[in-house]
Amino acid sequence: MSLDIDMVRGETPGCSHRLHFNNAGASLMPRPVIDTVVEHLQLEARIGGYEAADAVQDRTEAVYAAAAQLVGCQVPEIALFENATRAWDAIFYAIPFAPGDRIVTGRAEYCSNYMAYLQVAHAAGAEVVVIDDDEHGQINVDELRAVIDERVKLIALSHVPTSGGLVNPAAQVGAVAREAGVPFLLDACQSVGQMPVDVHAIGCEFLAATGRKFLRGPRGTGFLYVNQDRIGGLHPAVVEVGSAAWTETGRYTLKDDARRFETWEASTALRLGLGRAIEYALDLGLPGIWDRVAALAGELRSRLGAIDGVTVHDLGRIKCGIVTFTVHGLESEHLFAELRKRSVNVDVSTTADTRLDFEARGLSSLVRASVHYFNTDEEITRFCDLVGMFSRQA
Ligand SMILES: Cc1ncc(COP(=O)(O)O)c(C=O)c1O
Repeated sequence: MSLDIDMVRGETPGCSHRLHFNNAGASLMPRPVIDTVVEHLQLEARIGGYEAADAVQDRTEAVYAAAAQLVGCQVPEIALFENATRAWDAIFYAIPFAPGDRIVTGRAEYCSNYMAYLQVAHAAGAEVVVIDDDEHGQINVDELRAVIDERVKLIALSHVPTSGGLVNPAAQVGAVAREAGVPFLLDACQSVGQMPVDVHAIGCEFLAATGRKFLRGPRGTGFLYVNQDRIGGLHPAVVEVGSAAWTETGRYTLKDDARRFETWEASTALRLGLGRAIEYALDLGLPGIWDRVAALAGELRSRLGAIDGVTVHDLGRIKCGIVTFTVHGLESEHLFAELRKRSVNVDVSTTADTRLDFEARGLSSLVRASVHYFNTDEEITRFCDLVGMFSRQA
């Protein structure tokens, strides 16, 4: 079933006065999400924060169920966080790395993840192994298979990098991980919400995601999936009243589900908003969302590529809603600023975001235009006209 674009645009206040191609930064929240957050804040103001949380406890529990449905897992396998980084950290830092252990990753790895590998490499004597790209610019699965041995403690990969349209072949990586019995941590921050993501189809044991990007949830939200067979064997790096109970003077008892990785204090309003955003995406249907996002991004790529002086830089056999490009003779930051003045939202990706990839490709900065299903052909035309004008002037 195709999406009702007039309806979804009507429910997206930001659409009427801005051209929003920064959905990989933070998408525009739809009205039902905004209302959910604001109504709960108002309830807190009226009756008190703890009392308001008690009043909506069933709905807060339903957020876990929505996240579980979204990624195809069980409710006890979900933990909620204030962003994807904290979700990712909570599982990564629970893995007890020892000297000589290997963390295997790809070239498009996200800055924060890679810095965490470096930190653990330094602190625990672990080693980071980076698998090169194949001829499509995605992780080379044969090379990955070839490096697997008893030293490999974790395969960790960005599904979609922060700075490009690449969709890494996560299910092929998952198959290698499964064959070898090595846990696989998927950073699905940039993929969840724009395409179907199923943890069992992919074969990842851990997955981290954010709310504000393609899920169209509020900022300050994220979640983690931990396969139930792994939960009992992993001790969270941080123990507090959200993750455990102080059961005896000299003893605590960890929760037996994924919530052992959570911390206690959280914004109920934002969590409810995350849940509403997930329901909104599920109601529209992820397959339909993905079809439209891929089609719009494909159109944007080919129209930008046809402009004199513009180079499109996205890699991968399968490409998503993120479109990256440069304009000859024009700094990406300058184009970003000129577009912002005209109420056109994009972002700039730089070397520091995905250093391994940018250095290998000799890039320093790219304009990142990321579309979502509520964007239109007319917006693509307007955007390309503007880029064409700046390219001619450069
Ligand atoms: C690939 C990737 N992973 C993780 C993150 C971090 O997400 P968050 O800002 O929600 O912590 C980002 C954010 O841009 C990202 O692009």
